[in-house]
Amino acid sequence: MTSLDLRGAADRADLRLGAGALAGLDEFDRQSAILTWRGRMLNEHVSARVFSTLARQLERAGVRGDRPARVGAMVAEEWRHADRCAAVVEVLGGDPVVALPALPPVPEHEDADAIEAVLRNVISVSCLSETVAVALIDAERRAAGPPALQRLLAEILADEVGHARFGWRLVEEYAPSLSPTLRERLGDYLVIALDDLATHELSHLPARPSPSSAAEAVGVCDGHAARRLFFATVNEVIVPGLEASGLPALSAWRAAQELGAWASAQKVDPRARMTA
Ligand SMILES: [Fe+2]
Ligand SMILES: [Fe+2]
Repeated sequence: MTSLDLRGAADRADLRLGAGALAGLDEFDRQSAILTWRGRMLNEHVSARVFSTLARQLERAGVRGDRPARVGAMVAEEWRHADRCAAVVEVLGGDPVVALPALPPVPEHEDADAIEAVLRNVISVSCLSETVAVALIDAERRAAGPPALQRLLAEILADEVGHARFGWRLVEEYAPSLSPTLRERLGDYLVIALDDLATHELSHLPARPSPSSAAEAVGVCDGHAARRLFFATVNEVIVPGLEASGLPALSAWRAAQELGAWASAQKVDPRARMTA
């Protein structure tokens, strides 16, 4: 099995957290933080791979303008995010090395024409995953203690906002020309995409609080709050946003909740709202 080895990232990012941030962490907290950032490093690597495929799909679908090139630039941004996450692993005293699991191919959607196929992937990547990432990273940035970590998360957040916005703009642009049949087909796809999103996010957001405030300050989030934020983002941003473009997202989300084992097995309330 190959591995992702980003040693030297702390020097590349010139990242120092300061002795105070690390002194407050006991060994359990420190290991929790290392595991968290190593997981993020892997997720960013996966995102780079997804955007690389998406850039090719946009070109093949004949999407006009500089969009394929912009998505190509997002690949480099996701690589930089992986390197920044690796830098945090290093300053916490861990090794930014992770075994690469076998990753499924990015879907080609051979049952659809090129535009429908690329719209499915843009919706899944930008309107769903990247939009959730924006909400979660913004919460982490606000909870971060060391100013250097706040800056690092702000830098990643700015890029993720661009990755999400890219998809929302594309969907808005194509929405008026979509036939009723295609809207319906995209609605059917949304059931699967929303189920996948919830399954993925909830598997990465354990239903437990952060072990300590010191751990939370270096990125080990409160899983309960993060789960509430996930559902709030789907309910209040993603579903209304897709509905505004004429896609039947509300019925798709309801169907995904009925379909998804996560809705009951994970003991979460899909209707949960953020209070703050
Ligand atoms: Fe990223
Ligand atoms: Fe991203």
